[in-house]
Formats: sequence, C-alpha cells, structure tokens
Amino acid sequence: MKKTAVISGSTRGIGFAAAKKLISDGIDIVLSARHTKELQEKIEELNRLNGGKAYGYACDFSQTHSIVNFAQTILKKHSPVSILINNVGSYIEDTVFSEDIISNAEQLFRINVLSAVQLTHLLIQDMISQPQAHIINIGSVLSENSRPNSSSYTISKHALLGFSKSLREDLKNTGVQITDILPESVNTSSWDGIDAPKDKFIQPEEIALLISDILKMDHSAVEMVKIKNRLFI
Ligand SMILES: NC(=O)c1ccc[n+]([C@@H]2O[C@H](COP(=O)([O-])OP(=O)(O)OC[C@H]3O[C@@H](n4cnc5c(N)ncnc54)[C@H](OP(=O)(O)O)[C@@H]3O)[C@@H](O)[C@H]2O)c1
Repeated sequence: MKKTAVISGSTRGIGFAAAKKLISDGIDIVLSARHTKELQEKIEELNRLNGGKAYGYACDFSQTHSIVNFAQTILKKHSPVSILINNVGSYIEDTVFSEDIISNAEQLFRINVLSAVQLTHLLIQDMISQPQAHIINIGSVLSENSRPNSSSYTISKHALLGFSKSLREDLKNTGVQITDILPESVNTSSWDGIDAPKDKFIQPEEIALLISDILKMDHSAVEMVKIKNRLFI
C-alpha cells in the first residue's frame, strides 16, 4: 500500500536527504519550509527521481497559525499520513549569563519542541488509522547531554525527548511507533560559514539511510538511535 510521509523543514539538510531516500523507497513525501522558491525547486528535483511523488507547502514552524494551515492542507490533500518526521530545528549559542536567554529559549522551544507537539496533535487521529504508522523525532546528542554555550538548544532538545516519552504512553496499543534520532554534528547548511571539519561530521544521507531502514522493520520497534561523528574515533 502507498505510504505518505510528512517532513518538517525539508528543503535542505537531514530533512531533504530523508525525503530523497524515502522517495526512492516508493513513499510519497510532503515537504515543508519557509522559502517557496527553494521549496518548488526541491519538489521538482524529487519528482525527477523514480519512486514516490513529492508535494510541498510553505510553512513557518515558529507560527502556530502556519502549522494549522499546513496540517489542514495535508489532511485535505494527502490523508492518510503514515509517517511524520518532526525534523525542523534551530540553534542559538547562549548560556544562563546571556541577556537574551529567555527570548532564545522561547524561540527555540517554539521551533524545536512546540512545532512537533502541534503537528503531531493535528495529524495523530489520521495516522492512527494507518497500520504501522511511525513518528520520528530528530533530536540531538544534546537531547541527553550538555555542551558549553548551548543552553537554550539543550533545554529544547531535552524537552523534545520528553515529548517522545509521553507520546509512547499516550499511543500505547495504537500501533504507532515513535523513534528518536540523536545525532552529533551533521554536515548540513546549519554549519554554513563556520570553519569546522565537516568531512568528519555525520553526513545527512547516512541519517536518511537509517530512517529508511528503521521504517522497513516490521517486527521491531527502534526507540532511540544515538549517532556519533568521527571526530574522536
Ligand atoms: N546539523 C547538525 O549538526 C545537527 C546535529 C544534531 C541535530 N540536528 C537537528 O537536525 C534537524 C535538522 O537540522 P539540519 O542541520 O538538517 O537543518 P538545515 O540544513 O539547516 O535545514 C533546515 C531546513 O528547515 C527549514 N526551516 C528552518 N527553519 C524553519 C522554520 N521556522 N519553518 C519552516 N522551515 C524551517 C529550512 O528551510 P527554510 O529556511 O526555507 O525555512 C530547511 O529546509 C534539526 O532539528 C537540528 O536541531 C542537527
């Protein structure tokens, strides 16, 4: 049976790599991002590949009304959804001494946590109707650990992991699986302009491969995958 996957923040990085891999697996994809020109270009690029079909809609995941419009369009045009990848995320460097820690934390909480909560809330009834529905939340090593100068981001990624845990309680016996993916540094546009050893970072295509494999497992439930880069190996 044809499956549809919705991926938040998916014109670049992990989201786009996952879209490309899942299209090749024959899954239809709904892309999303703020910039419509890039969104259109990426939809066209994916539709030149063999496999599933790509669609996409502009959405700003920092805005609740934008998420509501996005979810309503999906339910109208792409129901039933069987895969939701809560991928969109943003990073700001700060510490508890930073003057803007509260506004940073609010901003990152909205994009990194509440967008996932809201989109899941809006799509979950539709997803429950599907056999083998799956929610994948893209966290970070900072979902469990800490790093200097990363306060607001660390708080938000810990909270996203908390959401996954509560989802497992709420969705017990529904058949919906929840997987957290916790990567170290990934070579994406998040690192543009930053001098870093990106060849030793995890490549987005490797995470895409992992997502594709996890979605193919019929008899097991992968709850969490932690992925290290090769910087210290
Ligand atoms: N890169 C890393 O080192 C790393 C490590 C661990 C975890 N992660 C996590 O992995 C996830 C993906 O990160 P990435 O590095 O792959 O991202 P990325 O390469 O920076 O790509 C970001 C994507 O999200 C979209 N986006 C950004 N803000 C948005 C918003 N407010 N509303 C809608 N779309 C938005 C962008 O398009 P528009 O700009 O057009 O909106 C783009 O398509 C995030 O949750 C991040 O925290 C990343």
